[in-house]
Amino acid sequence: MAKNLFDLSGETAVVIGATGVLGGALADGLAAAGAKIAVLGRNEDRGMARVKAIEAAGGKAAFFKADASSRCSLAEAHEQLEAKLGAPSILVNAAGGNDPKVTVTDANAFEQIKPEDWAASFDLNLVGGALLPCQEFGPAMCRRGRGSIINIASVSAHMPLSRVVAYSAAKAAVLNLSKFLAREWATRGVRVNTITPGFFPAEQNRKLLFNDDGSPTARTQAIWGHTPMKRFGESQELIGAAVFLASHAASSFVTGTDITVDGGYLSQTI
Ligand SMILES: NC(=O)c1ccc[n+]([C@@H]2O[C@H](COP(=O)([O-])OP(=O)(O)OC[C@H]3O[C@@H](n4cnc5c(N)ncnc54)[C@H](OP(=O)(O)O)[C@@H]3O)[C@@H](O)[C@H]2O)c1
Repeated sequence: MAKNLFDLSGETAVVIGATGVLGGALADGLAAAGAKIAVLGRNEDRGMARVKAIEAAGGKAAFFKADASSRCSLAEAHEQLEAKLGAPSILVNAAGGNDPKVTVTDANAFEQIKPEDWAASFDLNLVGGALLPCQEFGPAMCRRGRGSIINIASVSAHMPLSRVVAYSAAKAAVLNLSKFLAREWATRGVRVNTITPGFFPAEQNRKLLFNDDGSPTARTQAIWGHTPMKRFGESQELIGAAVFLASHAASSFVTGTDITVDGGYLSQTI
C-alpha cells in the first residue's frame, strides 16, 4: 500500500490543452501532487506561462508544442518529452471546445451547418481531443504495463445541450471511445476514464456565457437555474477527480468510469 494514496511523485503526466483554463488547472493540480508535467498545446506563450507557474509552486514541468489533431506532431512531442521528463504514465486529454460555426442559432440553422465544419469539430473534440493521443501514448503505456488516461467529456455528452450540436455529438463519442479503450486495455495495466465537467468559464465558451459587457447571457441564467449549486464551477474544483483517477494507488480498480463534477447539473431534469 502506498504511503499516500494521492502521491504522484515519480510519475510523468502529459496534459494536452494545459495551455487552456481547465487543462491548466489540471496540470497545476497533478504537479502539486508530485507529477512531472509535460504541458502540450499549440500556444507557446500560454504553455511557457503554465510551466513557469508550476515551477514557481515548486513543481517540475516543460512545454512541448503540439497539435493534438496531428499524429505526427504528437509523436514528435512524445519523443521529446520522454527524453526530458521520462516515460509518461498519465495522460490527460483536455484539448477541445465548441466552435461558433457549428453552433445552432437563428442565423445558423441546423440544416445550414456545413459538413466540413462538422468534421472540424469532430477533428478537434474526438480525433485530437481523445483518439490520436490515445493511439500515440496508450500502446506505449500498455507495453510498460502502467497508465492512466483521463479524457475530458462534457455534460452535453450525456444529454445534448441546445445549440452546441456537433460538440455534443463529438463529446458523446469521447465517452464511448473511452469505455471501449477501458475494456481493451484493462488487462494491460492501462486504465481509461472520463471526467465530465459541468460549466466552467473558459476561453472556448466565453461568447456563449457572457455578453460583450461581461454580463451573463440568457444561457448562463438558464444554466444557473438548472444547477442545484446555482453557480459555475471553478477550474480548481476538477483537480480532486483528476488526481484520484491519475493515482494508480487510489484508483487501481477503476476503469471505464466517468466522474461528473457539475454542481449537480446532471442530477435533475427540472
Ligand atoms: N469550460 C467548460 O465549461 C467545459 C465543460 C465541459 C468540458 N470542457 C472541455 O474541457 C476541455 C478544456 O476546455 P476549456 O474549457 O479549458 O477551454 P480553453 O481554455 O479554450 O482550452 C482549450 C484548450 O484546447 C487546446 N487546443 C485546441 N485545439 C488544439 C489542438 N489542435 N492541439 C492542441 N491543443 C488544442 C487549446 O490550446 P492551444 O491553443 O495552445 O492549442 C486550449 O488551451 C475541452 O475539451 C472542453 O471541451 C469544458
